[in-house]
Amino acid sequence: MDRRTFLTYSLAGGAMVWAGSAVPSALQPLFEAQAQTANLEVFPQSVGAGDPRANGVVLWTRALPRTRPSAATVSFQVASDANFGTIVLSGTAQTDPTRDYTVKVQLRDRPELRPATVYFYRFLLDGQSSPVGRFKTLPAPGDTVNRVNFAFLSCSDYTNGFFSAFRFLADEDIDFVVHLGDAIYETVFAPTFQNNRRPIELPSGLASAQSLEDYRALYQIYYNDPDLRRLRERHAFITIWDDHEYANDAYQEFNTDTNNPAQNRSPNRRQVASQAWAEYTAAAIDFDPSRAPLDAIQIYRSFEIGNLVELVMTDERLYRSAPPCGLNTALAPGCAAVVDPSRTMLGATQRRWFLDKITRSPRTWKIWGNEVMTMQLKISRAIVNGAGVPGLTLPADLFATLDQWDGYAAERTEIFNALRSANVRNFVTITGDLHTFIAGYQRLNFDGPLAPRAVPADAVGVEFVTGSITASNLAEQPNPFNLDINTSTQLLSASNPHFQFFNSNTHGYTLISVTPSELICTMKEVSTVTEPNATLRVLKTYRVPNGQVLMQDITA
Ligand SMILES: [Fe+2]
Repeated sequence: MDRRTFLTYSLAGGAMVWAGSAVPSALQPLFEAQAQTANLEVFPQSVGAGDPRANGVVLWTRALPRTRPSAATVSFQVASDANFGTIVLSGTAQTDPTRDYTVKVQLRDRPELRPATVYFYRFLLDGQSSPVGRFKTLPAPGDTVNRVNFAFLSCSDYTNGFFSAFRFLADEDIDFVVHLGDAIYETVFAPTFQNNRRPIELPSGLASAQSLEDYRALYQIYYNDPDLRRLRERHAFITIWDDHEYANDAYQEFNTDTNNPAQNRSPNRRQVASQAWAEYTAAAIDFDPSRAPLDAIQIYRSFEIGNLVELVMTDERLYRSAPPCGLNTALAPGCAAVVDPSRTMLGATQRRWFLDKITRSPRTWKIWGNEVMTMQLKISRAIVNGAGVPGLTLPADLFATLDQWDGYAAERTEIFNALRSANVRNFVTITGDLHTFIAGYQRLNFDGPLAPRAVPADAVGVEFVTGSITASNLAEQPNPFNLDINTSTQLLSASNPHFQFFNSNTHGYTLISVTPSELICTMKEVSTVTEPNATLRVLKTYRVPNGQVLMQDITA
């Protein structure tokens, strides 16, 4: 975002910021709290922080004034202690019904905020205080950093279970959370993948969100969840969307809700989905309703974390070409369009930006925050037919889904070749979307021969895919071959020897701990999502040494 956009936004939000607690005396009453306890009636979705920088962050809340539906002035404080004894910043912002009473304060280049430091914040309205939130700023881009800890996650389907994973993640020792998308699901009862454990009724009464009110209601209901409230209060988020913030397998302005692409083109629905995302996501991203959907918002961006990590977050929905071989992307044999070099996942502008960020970064680790898996996910005809599964023979290899990078293989090859030509080292991709824990190697040619568990000679990087928070995995969804999860796992693992690990039978999140010498990836699973009282355990741990395309299983 450029300076002009930032100023425009600040004016639109009416935000004013003062160092310390030196606010003009006329505004002092806005900073007086009548009660010590947080008021969830005034601040029903609590608070959240996002897009931490060395001297900045975005603070978020939703504040319901007594005077509804009029506008109101909300105040906020940032302190170096949880009791607000030392206030480092104070400010005010406007809220009103046009933004559904959300408040987003973008703090940028504030010298009062020190790098790599923990802060606490709260909002005040009508004498009532929000819960206290906490965030940690990033180290400065030029700092020498010895460790960065963060979590990545995706796919929290409220209707499909309880968010215990969020509760456990709140207590992890991390600097921030990376959310790779599917923060909400636009459908509220799709029987093939939603078990209706926690039912939602949309304002429209429809089975999927269509209007601005529907999308806003989803964020309100999700953010009301006590486990998610706690996590958002505790850590700053770096968030991108995937498809379900708008519609299943979305591309550009299109959903895939019918078999007719013309009917699926829905600029208004795409636009309101983007608007609700911008209103409710603590991210330093603006939404401009006067522009067409593909220009109204830009969510791709990067984060420089000292000299240690370049974190590059991409958008794989808004600019991608249409599905390659028709709208049915699941269990598809593919077609010539898959390798058509004119097709794109990132769009030309984002692809140039992405390659520039990754290939020119001076930082030790280049981490790609990626929505859909880059590694090939095939079901091999030879493996399946050789396995002698009763009633199952395949006439051809099938791709599990062409919605992921397998449907955009020409651009994937272009990116991987560019990484190899530029001799990019320590390239690590973190991915959501698949509701499956996977660890594996990104190859220049995924169909080249490879012995099981071997490290491919043409590997350009490692990819870790996190299981879902609650969204249904392979074990929980029906499959057309009626395979049980163990058979599916065996067939998929054997069909994709670049995988070192594959588990689609559980839920949880993934931790990354980076030092100058190694990257440790720890996948954690919850014992259940269908009951609220889950337990947590380590599922798998991998070590990636600096300088090698290698993952070592170090699970205790
Ligand atoms: Fe998902």
